[in-house]
Amino acid sequence: TMEEKMYRPNFHFTPKKGWMNDPNGMFFANGYYHLFYQYYPDKSVWGPMHWGHAISKDLVKWEEQPIAIYPDNDKYIFSGSAVVDVNNTSGLKKGENAPIIAIYTLHDMTKEKEGKIDVEQQDIAFSNDNGFTWQKFEEGNPVVKNPGIRDFRDPKVTWDETHKQWIMVLAAQDRAHFYKSSNLKKWEFLSEFGKNIGAHGGVWECPDFFQIEVEGTKETKWVLIQNLNPGGPNGGSGVQYFVGDFDGKTFTLDPDFAKRLENEKAVWADYGKDNYAGVTWNNVPASDGRRLFIGWMSNWEYAQQVPTTSWRSSTTIARELQLVKNGTYYNLVSQPVKELDNYVSKTIKTADLKGSGDLVLVKEGVADLSQTIISLDLKKLKQENYTLKLSNADGETLSFGLNNKENYLFVDRSKAGKNDFSDKFAATVSKAFLNGNQKEASFKFILDKTSIEIFYNNGEKVMTEIFFLEKPFSKLSISSKEKIEINNFKIQELNFSKSH
Ligand code: FRU
Repeated sequence: TMEEKMYRPNFHFTPKKGWMNDPNGMFFANGYYHLFYQYYPDKSVWGPMHWGHAISKDLVKWEEQPIAIYPDNDKYIFSGSAVVDVNNTSGLKKGENAPIIAIYTLHDMTKEKEGKIDVEQQDIAFSNDNGFTWQKFEEGNPVVKNPGIRDFRDPKVTWDETHKQWIMVLAAQDRAHFYKSSNLKKWEFLSEFGKNIGAHGGVWECPDFFQIEVEGTKETKWVLIQNLNPGGPNGGSGVQYFVGDFDGKTFTLDPDFAKRLENEKAVWADYGKDNYAGVTWNNVPASDGRRLFIGWMSNWEYAQQVPTTSWRSSTTIARELQLVKNGTYYNLVSQPVKELDNYVSKTIKTADLKGSGDLVLVKEGVADLSQTIISLDLKKLKQENYTLKLSNADGETLSFGLNNKENYLFVDRSKAGKNDFSDKFAATVSKAFLNGNQKEASFKFILDKTSIEIFYNNGEKVMTEIFFLEKPFSKLSISSKEKIEINNFKIQELNFSKSH
C-alpha cells in the first residue's frame, strides 16, 4: 500500500500493526538486544497497554516477537524496565538461565474512572528463557504499593555496582523517587529529587538513572534522565536530564550543572519534537561498555493523529550516550550507534564545493535513505544563516541549519509534506539555542522515510523530527546569499536489503 511504501521506515522499529509508545525494559542477553514497548495491538491509537517485544543483534535491524506481557482486563501494563538477575538475588531462577525481572507499573483503569488516587503500583514479572516468555509474579505483587500519589510510575531499575544494591527510580508526579533493594522484591524508599529543579511544564515520566565515566577521564558521574510531558523544549514531550552525584541514597546536582540550569532552565538530550520516553539498555557487556539509548519518535501533541493507519509510531535510531566535560559543564552527547555504518552501500564525498544561491550537494535519489556529514568552517564563512534543504520534484522541502547571529539550530518541517492532521505538528520552527557564536558547524544527519535525526558537532546537540511526504526527497542543497565553501561533505547511501 501507499502507506507501507511511503511511511514504513526502513530501519527504525515499527510494530507490524497497532499502536506503540514508550520503549520499555531494554536489556542485552545471550546475543540479543531486547526492546519492549508500550503496545496496543488492536487499534492504532492508545488503549489497553501490553508490552510488545522486538529483538536485534545489532540495534539497527529489529525483529518483532510475540507480545511479552498482557494486561488483565482493566489493569494495564505501563512503562518500566528489566534487569538480568545474574546472581539470582530474586530467587526466581528456574533451570539454567539467569532470571530476567521486568519491573513495571500496573495501572488500574477502574480506579482511574472512579477518580481514585491509588491508581498506579509497581509489579514484577520474570522470564526464565532469556527474555522471550514472561510470568507475572502473582504471589508477590505489588512490590511497591501506591503511597498516595496519583502519578506514580515508570520504574527504572539498575544494579548500582558502587553501593552493591538494586536502585529503582520512578516518576512521582513532578519528582523522581529513589528506592533500593537487595532482591528486587522488597523495596525501601531512599529519597526524592526535583522540587523546583529543571522543567516542570507537565508530569515527570519515564526516568532513567545511571553512573557513567566522563569521557577521557576516570571520573564518574550520575545522570538522571527525566522525561516530561508537556513542557518539552519545542512543545509537548521531551527528554531532560540532570548530572550529579549519588551517595547510595541521595542524588545531588553537580554544582556546575546547577549553574548551567540557572542559565538554561532545563537541559535536554534532544531538542527536536520527536524523541520521548527515551531510556537506556541494562546489562550491556562490560567489554562493550556503551550506554545505549532509544526513544519513542513521536510526541503526545499529535502521536495519535499522524497519517498512518495500520500502525502508529516508530523508535529513534539507537544512540550511544557519552558524558563530555565541556569547559565548565557536563554535557550528555548522543551519536547514532556505530552499527549503522555496516549498512552503508555507497559513499559520495566532496571537498571544496564552492558556489552561491542554492548550492546543490546531491540530486537524484540518494538523499532519501542516507547518512550525511557536512562541516562548515565558520572562521572563514561569515554568513548569518546556513540552511540545508531536502526537497523533491513536488517542492516538498525540509529545512534545517544554523542561525549564527542569534545562535540557534533550527528545523522547519512546515513545507515537508502532510501536516494538516494536527495544528501542533508544524506550527512553529523548532530551535535549539547554542552557547554563543559558532566557529565550526558540523551536521551529521540520518534520514529514513519519515524522519531526520540531526547530530550537531559530534552529538553535542541533537534534533529529531518526523514528517510525511507525498514523494521521497531527491535533492540536498545548501543555500547561501554569498559564495560559500564546503570543506567536508560526505553522503552515504544506506541499504537494508542485504543480510548481516
Ligand atoms: C509516557 C507514558 C508513561 C506511561 C505510559 C502509558 O509516554 O505516559 O508515563 O507509563 O506512557 O502508556
